[in-house]
Amino acid sequence: MGSQRRALITGIGGQDGSYLAELLLSKGYAVHGVVRRSSTFNTERLDAIYQDPHETHRRLFLHYGDLTDSSSLRRILTIAEPQEVYNLGAQSHVRVSFDQPEYTADVVSVGTLRLLEAIRDTGRQVRFYQASSSEMFGDNPEVPQNEDTRFQPSSPYAAAKCAAFWYTQLYRKAYGFFACNGILFNHESPRRGETFVTRKITRAATRIKLGLQEKLYLGNLDASRDWGYAPEYAEAMWLMLQQEKPNDYVVATGETHTVREFLELVFQHLGLDWRKHVEFDKRYLRPAEVPMLKGDASRARKILGWRPRTDLAGLVRIMVQADMELARKEQAAKGVGNQVP
Ligand code: NAP
Ligand code: GDD
Repeated sequence: MGSQRRALITGIGGQDGSYLAELLLSKGYAVHGVVRRSSTFNTERLDAIYQDPHETHRRLFLHYGDLTDSSSLRRILTIAEPQEVYNLGAQSHVRVSFDQPEYTADVVSVGTLRLLEAIRDTGRQVRFYQASSSEMFGDNPEVPQNEDTRFQPSSPYAAAKCAAFWYTQLYRKAYGFFACNGILFNHESPRRGETFVTRKITRAATRIKLGLQEKLYLGNLDASRDWGYAPEYAEAMWLMLQQEKPNDYVVATGETHTVREFLELVFQHLGLDWRKHVEFDKRYLRPAEVPMLKGDASRARKILGWRPRTDLAGLVRIMVQADMELARKEQAAKGVGNQVP
């Protein structure tokens, strides 16, 4: 199939999948992506690629498939013949995993197993990246968390990610796969899904600023997260697969902040007092919580040469600016709300 590097991404239409696709296309890869059939468009995050003047979209190939459907995975692997596979597809919402534990396990853990088995059956040398998560550390009070910290999952999502983590290590040990787990701490961007807390806050605060919304309902404000900027985390994924040996890596900023602090920063940035707009809603609480995540990314820094470049204030600026533009468009379309320069 020629000398062009080829990658396959599951979850290409998600936040991380879209940034990773852009990164790989910019490096000259042919990029194949798995998308689920949906009754509405679910590839909006890939729109920027189609607007790229260098026409990199000519090297982008989307295939219908699903992590719950092995035959589709096998078919796509046969067509794409990738040298690198990035498994980012997931039911990735922690709260939702309490409502749909069985489905979450099917996609996240068995889905990973299906993909590993499908790769094994091709008999080809494939480098494999698994989107593991800091959520696996759960309520283990040890901080900062590194690659040796014990997993103590606190949600069906985390338990499923642990199984996928172990499958990935197992295929490395048993079959000599070049398989890596990226244990990524929370990372955000203007492409973050709107039901995750950072984006929920930036989206609501900017709409409140323009008079398009009055209240924001949230759950636990005391939880602490290590929030980084998503495009930088996509770079770490790629770096893992370019090393001589496979390994597992924590990717994090090393700083932690509460949801309340994030809220304060966003509202302050917009000249608003969050206490006037935010209300508690117990529906956003979880049956079990992860109180604090703070990562130690020393291994990634030393071996991959990776380091975060965007701090929390920078992340807030990027997200607020993007959501302000979105809110302005909404305001213009509706012809309502406050006029803010
Ligand atoms: P995301 O925005 O929720 O994207 C997940 C992608 O997976 C979406 O494109 C989704 O498709 C797809 N998907 C869902 N179910 C699928 C299925 N059954 N078969 C195939 N694809 C399916 O998540 P993200 O933030 O980009 O995260 C990427 C990966 O990293 C996920 O595995 C997540 O669990 C993991 N992770 C994320 C973070 C973080 O902070 N963002 C941290 C650690 C690990 P639809 O668009 O059709 O729903
Ligand atoms: N989503 C949400 N909505 N979270 C809220 C809300 C709310 O209204 N109010 C408070 N929170 C709290 C949650 O209880 C949690 O402690 C924290 O905000 C962060 O929640 P999310 O943004 O939903 O992210 P997460 O940490 O649960 O999971 C994300 O990060 C993981 C990595 O640690 C997801 O991206 C996972 O897929 C990822 O693996």
